[in-house]
Amino acid sequence: MDRIRIRGGRQLKGEIRISGSKNASLPLMVAALLTDRKLTLRNVPRLADISTMLQLLQQHGVTVDAAPGENGHAHGTTLTLQAGKITSTTAPYDIVRKMRASVLVLGPLLAREGQARVSLPGGCAIGARPVDLHIAGLKAMGAEIDIDGGYMVARAPKGLKGARYTFPKVSVGATENLMMAAALAKGTTVLDNAAREPEIADLAECLIAMGVPVAGAGTETLTIEGVSALKDATHSVISDRIETGTYAMAVAMTAGDVELIGGRLDLIESAVQTLRSAGVTLEQTERGLRVHRTNGALHGVDVMTEPFPGFPTDLQAQMMALMTRAEGASMITETVFESRFMHVPELSRMGANVTIHHESALVRGVPKLRGAEVMATDLRASVSLAIAALAAEGDTTLHRVYHLDRGYERLEEKLSACGADIERLKG
Ligand code: EPZ
Repeated sequence: MDRIRIRGGRQLKGEIRISGSKNASLPLMVAALLTDRKLTLRNVPRLADISTMLQLLQQHGVTVDAAPGENGHAHGTTLTLQAGKITSTTAPYDIVRKMRASVLVLGPLLAREGQARVSLPGGCAIGARPVDLHIAGLKAMGAEIDIDGGYMVARAPKGLKGARYTFPKVSVGATENLMMAAALAKGTTVLDNAAREPEIADLAECLIAMGVPVAGAGTETLTIEGVSALKDATHSVISDRIETGTYAMAVAMTAGDVELIGGRLDLIESAVQTLRSAGVTLEQTERGLRVHRTNGALHGVDVMTEPFPGFPTDLQAQMMALMTRAEGASMITETVFESRFMHVPELSRMGANVTIHHESALVRGVPKLRGAEVMATDLRASVSLAIAALAAEGDTTLHRVYHLDRGYERLEEKLSACGADIERLKG
């Protein structure tokens, strides 16, 4: 398994190109299942999760044409997907267990084929991550869903019907599953307490381009008019706001000065406000987002993760890494997932001072971190260790970097281009 070695102490200077959003690309790719027409997606990032999703869609019968990006998206991939005929309505365990976003095929397969057999994803490092809201919402649209042998076995022999459904709690994936199912349902679907993440708005924009009227994107109430057929569409994937926030924190950690090309301040308002109160300067330029903390001190600030537009849970681990070197203390509360502090023991091995109290972690800034051998446990925890390593004394070796490769395109290239002493050790 590959490892990454980082020697800390270098200031990051220069520019980093932000890729298309992983968490927007995955549902956008699944939307191709809704129709036998072509869906072309631009600015798709080159990530392990994208490859896994392509593998899943191809076994459902989707043909894939991948080409290097163009029209200013030179750093992404342009994918043309076409589900001319669905050859299988089963999403197998060995793929779903690797990437839980696979459950997003449930709604589209049910809507188009009237049946689907999708493996339950199982838990992961950050929590149990049930899919009860996906199931309840689809049942409200007329689906019959049973659990059999670890699979969700779903039927809608008479098709799905539009319904009004209120989510008991905000769920990005359940919102996306129901939006896509509603596209082919008979009648109108209204989703209340829907997720408001920018990736939801991106999916709505793509569905509209495919011929599905969707209103309310970005608000807590979505209205989707079911249609009988969709049309060819082309859509450019939104910039990855979590990658943007991640690199902003990496730059701040090294007191550097970097322009994040394609980064959008408006997609991470809450995190930007938090970083500014911690002493980091962020300004939108016409090419992206400039981040610098040239000699000012880092101040400890409190953070509570919440669904959008609150502070993103996907930036919590990275913010914690930054706060380990701040002056003063920072209380970090994780309200979205039940066990998203797996990075704490590893940060502590680098000299961080973090104490966990239930869903909160108290971080007391320390004058220095020291490099160590550390273990990645999940996607965002692994990048938080890389951020800590950038400011640590000596060498850090990060193990199990396959977690990193799921969500960060060419991380070591992007960081070394800005002066980081980082290399991937094959093996
Ligand atoms: C999406 O996961 C993202 N993944 C996650 O990013 C992100 O952390 C999460 O949204 C929250 O923003 C993708 O978009 C591919 P949820 P998702 O349904 O849809 C509970 C990353 O690092 N819940 O909004 O699975 C759930 O357990 C990943 O890129 C239920 O109880 O998240 C969690 O506590 C990690 N029942 C909360 O809701 C359900 O049926 C939010 O989950 C569904 C979810």
